[in-house]
Amino acid sequence: MSYYKVTGNIPLKGEVSVSGSKNAALPILCATVLAGEPCRIENLPDIEDVNSLIEILTAMGAVVTKPQKGVAVIDPRPIKEYRVSTEMATKLRASYYMLGSLLGRYGYAEIAEPGGCSIGQRPIDYHLRGMRALGANVIDRGGIITAEAKELRGADIYLDMASVGATINIMLAACRAKGKTTINNAAREPHVVDVANFLIAMGASIRGAGTDVIRIVGREELHGCTHPVIPDQIEAGTYMIAAAATKGNVIIKNLIPTHLEAISAKLMECGVEVIEGDTGKEFFIQVKADERPRAVNIRTLPYPGFPTDLQQPMTALLAVAYGNSFVQENLFEDRFNHVRELNRMGAKITVNGRTAAVAGVERLFGAEIQATDLRAGAAMIVAALMAQGTSIIRNIHFIDRGYENLTDKLTALGAMIERVE
Ligand code: UD1
Repeated sequence: MSYYKVTGNIPLKGEVSVSGSKNAALPILCATVLAGEPCRIENLPDIEDVNSLIEILTAMGAVVTKPQKGVAVIDPRPIKEYRVSTEMATKLRASYYMLGSLLGRYGYAEIAEPGGCSIGQRPIDYHLRGMRALGANVIDRGGIITAEAKELRGADIYLDMASVGATINIMLAACRAKGKTTINNAAREPHVVDVANFLIAMGASIRGAGTDVIRIVGREELHGCTHPVIPDQIEAGTYMIAAAATKGNVIIKNLIPTHLEAISAKLMECGVEVIEGDTGKEFFIQVKADERPRAVNIRTLPYPGFPTDLQQPMTALLAVAYGNSFVQENLFEDRFNHVRELNRMGAKITVNGRTAAVAGVERLFGAEIQATDLRAGAAMIVAALMAQGTSIIRNIHFIDRGYENLTDKLTALGAMIERVE
């Protein structure tokens, strides 16, 4: 089993470039199924979840070529298999996007309930309700979902919560439905907008992505296109937090600063210097710190609120803050598995329901810790980088699912991190 060996307490210094967004790339790969021609996807991150989705596409019959690093060309025309096997679907959460894509394109989809991080119950009832509203007959037989429709018809759909997954899945199916679909209380995350832009480039009619009402007019045909995936908001935020945690000075390049406003605001409230800039070619954010952070309170919320995916690395930073912080997790009921590991390193954090009370300590100490899910893994990396001494981080396959070239990027910033196979 691979693990990371990290010797901490070294300020990160230098420049790091952000990769393509995982949570945009995955639904975009699924959306290629809707096209009648090949699509070229650029700025694809080289991460396990992307590899798993490419495996799913290939197993369905699509022809996937990778003409160069970070680029995949997907020809969906040979697809013959309208199902995703349980083994593949449970590898990652985003496999559920095949439901909307296959149903939209072929009028039939069969897929096992998705996998992904164990951070709460994570039902997919809004997705299924959305497909039913579009006219599909959806049956869940012990976790195997089939959805079938002779013809999808546009509908007015309201989401009880602004779910990223349900918004995108409904958008995918609605692109090929007859007539107009409205998604009310839609998610506004940057990756929702990127998927909409990809679909628009394929000829779809979508208005309002990025607001809480999205209107889609279905089309009979969608064509191929070329689309570069947006930079990863969560990867960028992770490096911002790691720079602050190690009292470093890091320029994070290839990002979209507006996607990171909640993180920048909270880091500044902690006393960290955050400078946004534009080289004329690309945007960057410089993060500088020379002291322990001040305690701040965090509440996770849908975009543009503080992202739940950065709650865990932010909790690691707050573990060494001056004073007491409260971290409230509003999206997933079980997203505090990292706390036990942080406490093993000397943190003083107690969890009560959806709130973690963090009593800041002067420093963390290296320990043998484990990633319990993807973003908990990011929290372990941040903690190990700032801790005194050496840490061993186990279960790093979770981290491989979402962070491209982590060792190389951190080593280039001066970190002492080694991946031991
Ligand atoms: C996606 C992201 C994940 C991120 C999360 C929130 C992917 C592959 N995953 O997860 O990284 O942490 O958005 O930004 O992009 N809900 C229901 N029923 C549903 C759907 C959602 O009750 O049918 C609830 C969820 O339990 C959760 C909330 O709605 O409490 C938001 O979930 P959602 O935005 O759908 O998250 P995911 O798509 O699971």
